[in-house]
Amino acid sequence: MAERVQAIGGAAASELVDAFAERDPTSLYVHIPFCRSRCFYCDFTTYVAPRPEVDAYLNHLERELEMLGAKTRTSLQTVFVGGGTPTFLTTGQLDRLFQAIHHNFRLVSDAEVTVEANPGTVTPEKLERLAAAGVNRISFGAQTFDESLLLAIGRSHDRAAIEESVRLARESGFSRINLDLMFGLPDQTTDAVRRAVEACLALDVPHLSAYWLKVEPGTPFARWHDEGLLALPGEDAEAEMYELVRDLLATAGLRQYEVSNFARPGEEARHNLVYWRNEPYWAAGVGAHGYVRGRRTANVTSLVDYAKHVASGALPVAEVHDVSPAEAAEDTMMLGLRLREGVHVDTFRRRHGALPAELFPEALARLEAHGLVETTAGHVRLTHRAYPVANIVFEAFVGALTAPDDAAH
Ligand SMILES: C[S@@+](CC[C@H](N)C(=O)[O-])C[C@H]1O[C@@H](n2cnc3c(N)ncnc32)[C@H](O)[C@@H]1O
Ligand code: SF4
Repeated sequence: MAERVQAIGGAAASELVDAFAERDPTSLYVHIPFCRSRCFYCDFTTYVAPRPEVDAYLNHLERELEMLGAKTRTSLQTVFVGGGTPTFLTTGQLDRLFQAIHHNFRLVSDAEVTVEANPGTVTPEKLERLAAAGVNRISFGAQTFDESLLLAIGRSHDRAAIEESVRLARESGFSRINLDLMFGLPDQTTDAVRRAVEACLALDVPHLSAYWLKVEPGTPFARWHDEGLLALPGEDAEAEMYELVRDLLATAGLRQYEVSNFARPGEEARHNLVYWRNEPYWAAGVGAHGYVRGRRTANVTSLVDYAKHVASGALPVAEVHDVSPAEAAEDTMMLGLRLREGVHVDTFRRRHGALPAELFPEALARLEAHGLVETTAGHVRLTHRAYPVANIVFEAFVGALTAPDDAAH
């Protein structure tokens, strides 16, 4: 389908450039698709598999890292090992994984290396070996501190395991610790959200992510929702929970720097900033998504397909999408507006060859008129009140330049 051709200061959307498209990624995401059990809300690529399968997966992952490493020309600034549950791996398996990463990629000396972990899956030995392998940031999924709610959402740990895991991480020398929380969970009260935030603050972690529950198709939650069995708090109560999280964390000095992320100054997740600034990254592992030299890729999601591809010497890519310069400009807006700092107008112009206001005059005028977006000090950003309805803002850029004429608004 032809892209909508829109006049932009004498140019057309189809003539746009992405001056950053050829930049080499300096970030790497590695996916570990195993969990002890599957939580009822989760649709991430993950499997409950026996140990030998994990070993086989690591063999294939080593091969993929080797193939990707051969394509790199630049050192990595950030590495993120996510899941699934990376710490489901044994100490020996984690050692192998990090040997493969270090063997195939160069990391700058102060690289940020994050590992996702589930409460109750870390031991002092495992944490010490991770630290020795260069890991300097650890992210635990806590979700809630309410025992019955932990059970109701299918978590395999209790509150004490969250507190104990954070304590062990600290004792092994980790200071950069994140906790994930979720709100809008079934039967969750605003008070339970308050208690969860207070429990995180009591643990004095420097970073917190707070996610609004999304009922994902294909999950048990989706099925129960369809059957009328999921007692969600409701939009108003959920928005109130979000406001409460924002208020409590702001008061405690954890600055909101993204729609769902809060940190003490200097503790922001550098790896995730790469995504929100629409910068490129390598991706390895089953189901992993990458963005390299203007091309978005999605790896196969089945362990069997993954093994077949890699064993035959091919990258395990299922989908490739060449991002046009116009689409890249839409992405820069959608992703950048997630950040408190917003989209830096000058960087945007250097990358895309025009100002946001020149490329998206209608969308920006409409959003500004509704008080959802503002331009101040060289940045386009969300207004304070736009946060609970941020999706409306992001949607305004979907297809703004790339939708075919008849679909354009
Ligand atoms: C990659 S996941 C899992 C990390 C780790 N395995 C864990 O659960 O502790 C990262 C985070 O995404 C959030 N998450 C997962 N599914 C979600 C959903 N359906 N809606 C909102 N947040 C979700 C959870 O807070 C989770 O900790
Ligand atoms: S432990 Fe994390 S990745 Fe695994 S099923 Fe639960 S939320 Fe998903």
